[in-house]
Amino acid sequence: MRLQNSSIMLLYLLFAVLTSCSESTGYIPAPDTITFGQKLSDYNIYQGNPNNLTPSADYELIELSSSLFVNYAEKQRLIKLPANTQITKIDNGTPNFPNGTILVKTFYYYKDKRDQNLGKNIIETRLLIKEADMWNVATYVWNASQTDATLKLDGLSKNVSWIDANGASKSVNYKVPTERDCTTCHQNSSTVKPLGPTLMNMNINVSRSNKTINQLQYFQNKGLLNSFDHPQIPTLPNYFDPSYSISERGRAYFEMNCAHCHNPAGLPKAARKGYDFRYTTPLSQTRIPQKKGKIDNVIRSGEMPWIGTTTLDVEGYNIVKQYLNSL
Ligand code: HEC
Ligand code: HEC
Repeated sequence: MRLQNSSIMLLYLLFAVLTSCSESTGYIPAPDTITFGQKLSDYNIYQGNPNNLTPSADYELIELSSSLFVNYAEKQRLIKLPANTQITKIDNGTPNFPNGTILVKTFYYYKDKRDQNLGKNIIETRLLIKEADMWNVATYVWNASQTDATLKLDGLSKNVSWIDANGASKSVNYKVPTERDCTTCHQNSSTVKPLGPTLMNMNINVSRSNKTINQLQYFQNKGLLNSFDHPQIPTLPNYFDPSYSISERGRAYFEMNCAHCHNPAGLPKAARKGYDFRYTTPLSQTRIPQKKGKIDNVIRSGEMPWIGTTTLDVEGYNIVKQYLNSL
């Protein structure tokens, strides 16, 4: 009995030491295989008036079926590949991007969403740049005159206001992420990874030169993606699309808003909680059915997502609620 107690004690101590170690090393350092320019204009991302966000010839749009909610911001995603290189398929998830790839994500608000001609207020442009097989992270905060943006690695809080599609005045305390915030969400097995452009999330029809085309096919036609039979790739449902079932929509919401932290290879502090919100994980292994009440509660209270937004995603939460009620 005595021996048993002391070995339990020893195990407990070992556990405490191990967890406190991974607690302190749960954040991964930002890679520094490149030096970022001070100004966004160093990257020649746009042509013409930068506020129009018209990509220059080297950059291609990326559209996603489902995306991450961030304070009702609009987003534009772009990619630039080095000349004569291409993206290559690994599985249905994140493909391999060549060294030199630049991924761009710009956050903005229409001043009045009912009339986009009234202009936009661009807040920040985030970059992921791959060099020496590592993804470097940085964000650039746009100036008031909207002519350029400046490198900002230690975060920023700013009040942002806009008029929404129903004509209501909205405002939010918008948080530009710190470098550590970037690597918190973008980590997978302790390395920085892109999160949006999985093959299944890009496998949708898009409009290019006034024609409707499958986005993977479009990239293949341009030689930017290796050749494979794209109709074999599944599509991640758009969680706003009511033609999908409520369980597909609920699971797609978790995939894009929760799974980057809550998966076995995500942020250790989150992964330890045992949830696996990835779309492809069988429901019985997600802990969603057992923890419906808790999941509902942490979203409604604003406790989750842990970082990344400062306001409740009302429309997204409604989908989650319907989904949890259906289980
Ligand atoms: C709250 C989690 C979170 C934080 C913090 C975060 N990201 Fe992301 N990021 C995501 C998710 C999820 C996506 C994919 C979904 C989307 O784009 O809507 C994404 C997309 C991107 C993209 C487009 C390519 C891709 O991976 O999909 C870039 C570039 C990017 N993030 C850079 C950054 C940088 C740089 C920072 C820090 C300044 C940062 N992100 C902070 C979660 C986050
Ligand atoms: C940026 C990373 C991140 C994102 C995104 C995120 N979480 Fe979390 N989550 C955490 C961390 C870290 C904890 C542990 C917090 C703590 O221990 O204080 C946690 C804890 C939880 C818990 C409580 C677990 C428990 O048993 O105490 C639930 C439930 C949860 N998250 C659900 C969600 C849901 C649902 C989403 C998406 C809407 C989400 N999380 C998005 C990082 C994240």
